[in-house]
Amino acid sequence: MDVHITILLLCILLVYNPHTVCFSLGLNEHQVSKHRFDDMGPLEDEPWTMVQKSGNQFVVNDQPFYVNGFNTYWLMVFAVDASTRGKVTELFQQASDVGMTVCRTWAFNDGQWRALQKKPSVYDEDVFKALDFVVSEARRFKIRLILALTNNWDSYGGKPQYVKWGNEAGLNVTNEDDFYSHPTLKNYYKAHVKTVLNRVNTITNMTYKDDPTIFAWELINEARCPSDPSGDKLQEWIEEMAFYVKTIDPKHLVEIGLEGFYGPSTPNKVPYNPNTYCQQVGTDFIRNHQVLGVDFASVHIYADSWMSPPISDAHIAFTKSWMQSHIDDAETYLDMPVIFSEFGVSAKDPGYNASFRDNLISTVYNTLLDSARKGGSGGGSLVWQMFPDGTEYMDDGYAIILSKSPSTTKIISRHSTRLTLFNSLCKWKCHWGCKKKHELDESHYHDEL
Ligand SMILES: *[C@@H]1O[C@H](CO)[C@@H](O)[C@H](O)[C@H]1NC(C)=O
Ligand SMILES: *[C@@H]1O[C@H](CO)[C@@H](O)[C@H](O)[C@H]1NC(C)=O
Ligand SMILES: *[C@@H]1O[C@H](CO)[C@@H](O)[C@H](O)[C@H]1NC(C)=O
Repeated sequence: MDVHITILLLCILLVYNPHTVCFSLGLNEHQVSKHRFDDMGPLEDEPWTMVQKSGNQFVVNDQPFYVNGFNTYWLMVFAVDASTRGKVTELFQQASDVGMTVCRTWAFNDGQWRALQKKPSVYDEDVFKALDFVVSEARRFKIRLILALTNNWDSYGGKPQYVKWGNEAGLNVTNEDDFYSHPTLKNYYKAHVKTVLNRVNTITNMTYKDDPTIFAWELINEARCPSDPSGDKLQEWIEEMAFYVKTIDPKHLVEIGLEGFYGPSTPNKVPYNPNTYCQQVGTDFIRNHQVLGVDFASVHIYADSWMSPPISDAHIAFTKSWMQSHIDDAETYLDMPVIFSEFGVSAKDPGYNASFRDNLISTVYNTLLDSARKGGSGGGSLVWQMFPDGTEYMDDGYAIILSKSPSTTKIISRHSTRLTLFNSLCKWKCHWGCKKKHELDESHYHDEL
């Protein structure tokens, strides 16, 4: 057979059923995984470049980049103190051992204990150095970071702290949501964004805005603006801030940090929300994500806290339909990838058991694999949350400590291996190569067929 036709057929097969082709090429999951995780030699030569977006998928070095990752919000604070800094390294080591490649963490601590930003535009250099350490350590373990720039909630300061600062400066601000609308508070936030993005890492000498270790900026964790259920106030803030981040840093991807609730612009989708309150919190999944400068969608999944704490099969059913609905939206309306950037279950929930947690995690992973097989918008997931040994005292119920959870470890590892198959497709210049060729040279493509 003509070599071109052979390659073309291989490409078509890969697009529709990558597993078959990988196995028919004589690779089994174990070999692929071994190549990826144990034998780091070849990877050392791969350039460490920015993650980008091509249509509804993430790409890096022109290869797909499906994400299996995790959250650990407190890394910067742990890195401040020499006695706890080693936990950051331990965590990245453990996560990379199970093939995880992305960590979402806080690049803010507004006015609290070990604050990064002690007051508007006043920084603690020791804490900034700790964040430098987190970024440089992540790079060592080939883990990319989603860095959140503030919080909707009062943990680590966030929106309420900005409003307090405004009061202390004599502004007449009464509602926490003034954070989204008061010009002075918006300027405080922008100053923080500018400072973090222009930070020169004291360990690597690399400016954050140029560092491919950073996967994306997140505007604010779990934005909500219940003072304006129409969604206009938050929408305007997202428009202003996404644009602002891009003016400073056009290279990195940006996401908002939303939980994914449907709002007034899509009444037909509102029934997918886990409860009726969700449509009143001033967020609007599709409209918010149509903002210029927002590159991918974020969705959280908390069936337990959003529906009812006693664990039940209804949580699994909700997880599936919530995910599928957002994957469909990202394909149909947004043409962007979606990351399920927090999901988990609390061990404190009534009726909790470890096999339920494993079942939940598998559900999320399997839904994403189904999407990846079809070239869909499901870009990945970040479990909430991964802790290294000896940090149990920080646990809010959701912590996963790998050494204590062998069955969960196995599920996470296996998912990494499966994603590696998808992410390595372009090693043979197939999936993306074919798509590009198709776009660039359509007539040639048809001739060959
Ligand atoms: C402060 O703002 C509130 C609500 O907007 C307003 O009712 C009040 O008159 C303002 N107070 C001052 C001193 O400007
Ligand atoms: C960073 O820059 C300083 C000062 O220019 C230099 O001494 C140091 O070796 C550099 N470090 C790295 C990792 O490049
Ligand atoms: C764990 O909880 C689920 C959901 O309530 C239940 O169906 C299952 O039987 C439980 N498994 C064990 C091992 O207790």
